[in-house]
Amino acid sequence: MSSRLDWQSHAGQPLRGNLRVPGDKSVSHRSLMLAALAEGRSHIRGFLEGEDTRATAAVLAQLGVHIETPADGERVIEGVGLHGLRGTTHALDCGNAGTGMRLLAGLLAGQAFDSTLIGDESLSKRPMRRVTDPLAQMGAKIDTQDGLPPLHVHGGQNLHGIHYTLPVASAQVKSALLLAGLYAEGETEVIEPHPTRDYTERMLAAFGWPIVFKPGFARLSGKHTLRATDVDVPADFSSAAFFMVAASIMPGSELHLSAVGLNPRRTGLLHALRLMGADIRVENERESGGEPVGDLIVRHAPLHGIELPEALVPDMIDELPVLFIAAAVAKGQTVIRGAAELRVKESDRIATMAAGLRAVGAAIEETPDGALIQGGTLSAGTVVSHGDHRIAMSFAVAGLLAQGPIRINDCSNVATSFPGFFELANGCGFTLTQAD
Ligand code: S3P
Repeated sequence: MSSRLDWQSHAGQPLRGNLRVPGDKSVSHRSLMLAALAEGRSHIRGFLEGEDTRATAAVLAQLGVHIETPADGERVIEGVGLHGLRGTTHALDCGNAGTGMRLLAGLLAGQAFDSTLIGDESLSKRPMRRVTDPLAQMGAKIDTQDGLPPLHVHGGQNLHGIHYTLPVASAQVKSALLLAGLYAEGETEVIEPHPTRDYTERMLAAFGWPIVFKPGFARLSGKHTLRATDVDVPADFSSAAFFMVAASIMPGSELHLSAVGLNPRRTGLLHALRLMGADIRVENERESGGEPVGDLIVRHAPLHGIELPEALVPDMIDELPVLFIAAAVAKGQTVIRGAAELRVKESDRIATMAAGLRAVGAAIEETPDGALIQGGTLSAGTVVSHGDHRIAMSFAVAGLLAQGPIRINDCSNVATSFPGFFELANGCGFTLTQAD
């Protein structure tokens, strides 16, 4: 992790410009893992140069995978085949990345060798039984520290497929099971309470692995072969989200966001903002690398509070912090329910957002699974991000409209998912400075 970095977000200008935000984090992680296990050489373009995805690349390199970086945002990977990874006695450091650790837990459960997965302070507090319990049902042996990292994954276990209904909607858990399923005897089937992002399924199919999937359901059997495939990573909707809210709330704004990934399991925020009165057009819808992408044109519009439909929550799980900001400056009350998963993200995002919004004068009542937010005017104040990248960027957006500067403590982890946010934001009308 980089050293401590604080920002100040000051009143901004109307936002203008044509931006391309960095590559999708979920797709970048998966492209590395599948390319590593494939036969042949895969070229990834649009790869997210974030700390999370680089940590996954470093882990795979430690496991003997040759990965080249011909240019920024590109990786060329020599796949070692399903059984070609080499064990190491060194701990494998996933940094801040829950996705990296949980997916790798599934992938490593099927190897002949032991591995130890570790993470930073935040990742070390995140629940892992959601993956280790169903993996144990498949025959895996993984030790946790009372359900938390480090994970010690025992090799040499014979895995068998299971039919598993997820207790919580989680693409990470689903993906861990599917990756373990590549090594298992028989069929692995995952059923979800609400459909989650299906990148693992789509990408397995693109790499030639037989898989049946539809929203909320995936089934594969083990012991086939992955064939090297080039991957074009779309721009990350979750990174675009900060600019969607920023341009919506900042009078006089018009922002164009190009080639944004529009997988329907990611676009809940678009629907929520439209329900609040936002003016967001999607143009030039197309397919890129098997994923829907489009250009977004976001214009300022007066927003009003809503009762957020609970069905949208899983499709915007990473965008809720910035929705809290939209709600805090909208007219009237916004009610968010069914979002208890926010409590086990990089920070407890309900508590962190509630404390931060209160610190800048907003009226917010925290509930166990959401919040009631009364729209109004934001004031100057100091916000603690708890090292959570999405909290830091959300309050950078809040600063655009606040009556005085918002100081945001501990912003270095923005680099986990959105390197260059500071410069991109300042280039289109934000006034972000580094605080002393
Ligand atoms: C992700 C799934 C989501 C999301 C995370 C990325 C993925 O987590 O919050 O940022 O790439 O599969 P859950 O699986 O815990 O819902």
